[in-house]
Order: sequence, then structure tokens, then C-alpha cells
Amino acid sequence: MEKTQSQQWAERLRAVMPWGSSTCAKSPRFMPDEPGVIVRGKGCRVWDADGREYIDFRNSCGPVTLGYQFPPVDAAIREQLQNGIIFGHPHPLECEVAEMLCEVIPCAEMVRFFKTGGEAIAACIRVARFHTGREHIVQIGYNGWLNSLAHGGRLLPGQIAEDYPPGVPCCLSSLHHPGTWNDIGTMERLFTDFEGQIAAVVIAADYANMAAGERFYPALRKLTHKHGALLIFDEIVTGLRVALGGVQEYFGVVPDLAVFAKGIANGMPLSVYAGKREIMEGFHTAIASSTTGGETLSLAAAKAALLTYQNEDVIGHLWHQGERLHNGLNALFAQYDLPVEMTGFPVCGPFRFAPEAPDDLSERFFRAAYRNGVSLFHVPYVNFSHHDKDIAEALERLEKACQEVS
Ligand SMILES: Cc1ncc(COP(=O)(O)O)c(C=O)c1O
Repeated sequence: MEKTQSQQWAERLRAVMPWGSSTCAKSPRFMPDEPGVIVRGKGCRVWDADGREYIDFRNSCGPVTLGYQFPPVDAAIREQLQNGIIFGHPHPLECEVAEMLCEVIPCAEMVRFFKTGGEAIAACIRVARFHTGREHIVQIGYNGWLNSLAHGGRLLPGQIAEDYPPGVPCCLSSLHHPGTWNDIGTMERLFTDFEGQIAAVVIAADYANMAAGERFYPALRKLTHKHGALLIFDEIVTGLRVALGGVQEYFGVVPDLAVFAKGIANGMPLSVYAGKREIMEGFHTAIASSTTGGETLSLAAAKAALLTYQNEDVIGHLWHQGERLHNGLNALFAQYDLPVEMTGFPVCGPFRFAPEAPDDLSERFFRAAYRNGVSLFHVPYVNFSHHDKDIAEALERLEKACQEVS
């Protein structure tokens, strides 16, 4: 049988690129049902190289929060393009977007930009070490590949290192320690074992059990204060999704530093590291810098995206459509007797396959979803362009997928 365009692209990619993708999570696992490449997106839908259409819940693994080709964002990028992309001095947009972020992020007295979430977290870790004069870092969750350093820490969002992360020197690894979401006992033990040595706790939420943040975040705030360590929130997924100002706004716990990235600019590459003035001033000495941090197309996109969030109830919409998706899927799983459920907050809640589920159930379900025109991710993300009819249509397509696997 002749290979599809998608298959041909996937083969070419694998020939020139490890994983066949620059992003591990985007590497297709379930071909030929899954698309090998996506060539276009509009609203909440994407099309592959063979013209197959999918209602999309991958949203580039989170950043597309408003929708593909979202008109105000695209218009802002086009307008800025007429004046240039990047310059040898700061651009007024760098100031405007920084000011807007100081208004909406509770911990933000000063902010700065990078391109990826991981490098912004690395900058926070550096300034935390400088500020406290300590070297050890505790990390909860995945904080980007270049911070995947701890023995037994996260290599990727869904992958824990069994040993030292491959390629990481032991001496560096020994300064990083994995903590566990909602386990304050382990955190207390780490602070006892490394008394006076922990510079910061970096925490990304466990999306399956987000509600536990209600108790865990305040407990961590108290513990870090007690031991003179900084608290750094990785809001790369939760920012502009759970609330405009992320989990710090939602749970009312203000960290010392925070990173926002996905969602800031509807998919344009931009990350934000923000925090208290006295700590951020440390960057005058503890250097973090990148040529492209103030690139203006992404900043124009960020300004348009933030204005949209402020003028329209984007967060309310994400919660509403996320709930419809979660409730609809949970009803289908019950109806077709599939041992799966949607968990966590519906704006970023993952699938949970029950321990008794057959090993191949998730693969069969994801394949069937693709075959029926729904592109899923382990955390299915809704965006502002998923309207009632799109969620209804997605659930109709997913019902067919449930029938096929049940
Ligand atoms: C919670 C979290 N932190 C950090 C990162 C890394 O961000 P980036 O891929 O932009 O470096 C990710 C990426 O998936 C993430 O989900």
C-alpha cells in the first residue's frame, strides 16, 4: 500500500532528527492513525498533510490557549512585522508587556523574558542560589529538560529518572533533589537532611490531583519561610489557564519567583520569569541573558493575548469547555464500561487509566480517537476557540472511539 504523505514526512523526520521531532511529546507514537505532521490549524481544528481534519486538544502541548490563527494575535504579529522583528536595544513592547504582567501575576514586582520555560526556570534557580548563598534545590514535577538533574527526578513530564539522569555529572545531580506533590513529610525530611543548604523549592503542580494545592501550597510556603529558602512556582502550564495569574492567584499563595510560558503569547515563543524586586535585582550580578528575549513578534502576540484575557472571560471559557469535555468523557467511559476517567481541574486535567485497565487500552483509545478525527494529549487542553458545538462534535467522535475499543 502506498504510504500517506504523513507517513513519508514522519520517515524523513526520523532520518534526520532524534525522536523525529524537536519536542519529545510531539513525536508521533501511534502512526498511521496519528498524524505524522500537521500542516495547518484554525480555531480548535488542525489538518494533517493528507488533508485529514482533527478537533484538537493538544494545542501544541498547551501554549495555544486562544486558538489557531486567533485574529487579534495574528493581526498584532503582522503589524509588528512591518516594523522589524528584533533590535539592538529594547523595544517599547518589552516594557508594556512587562508592566501588564506585573499587574496580573501576584508575585511579579519585576519581570524578564526568555524563549522557553526551562531556561526561565534555570534563571530562577541561579538567582535563588545567589540570593540565599546556598546550593541545593528541591524540585517537584518536571521543570524543563535543562533542569532535569536530580537523581530520581523528572526527565520529562511523564518520565522519572531511575538513576542519575543520563549525561548529567553526579556532582551537579547531587545538588538537586526530587520532592513529591502533596507530601509535606518528604519536604520536611529534605529540609532536615540539608539543613541550611536548600536555596529553593521549585514546584510544578500535579495536574491529576490539583485540588490538593489548597493545603500543599500554603504548607510549602510556611516551610520555605521557616528554613529561609525561596519558593519558585513553575506556572508554565497553570498560568493563564487555572487563573490568569496561575495557581498563585487561584490558591492565594504568593511565591518568591515564578515562571509563566505556555499561554502567554498563544503559541509564540515567550517565557516570563518574575518575582519580588529584591530577588530579581540579583540578576544584575547573577547573570541570565539571551539575545532573543525581547523579540518583538512574540511580545506583540503577548500583548494582544493579555488584552484578550482582560477584555473577555477566557479563563471562564476554558473552565466551562474543559468541564463539558471532562463530564462528557466520563459519561462515555461509564456508558461503555471503560476503566478510564478524567481527573484534576478540567483546564489541565489528565486521563487516568485504572490499574486494572488492559495495558494496551490507552493506545487503542488514542488511536481510535485519531481515526475518528480527535487529536488528544495525555492532558487534553481546551482553548478559547472550542465552542459548545465543537465540544459536542468532539464527544460524538469520541463516542465512536469508545465503541471501537469497548
Ligand atoms: C510544568 C512544565 N515546566 C517546564 C516545562 C518546560 O518548558 P519548555 O518546554 O518551554 O522549556 C514544561 C514543558 O512541558 C512543563 O510542562
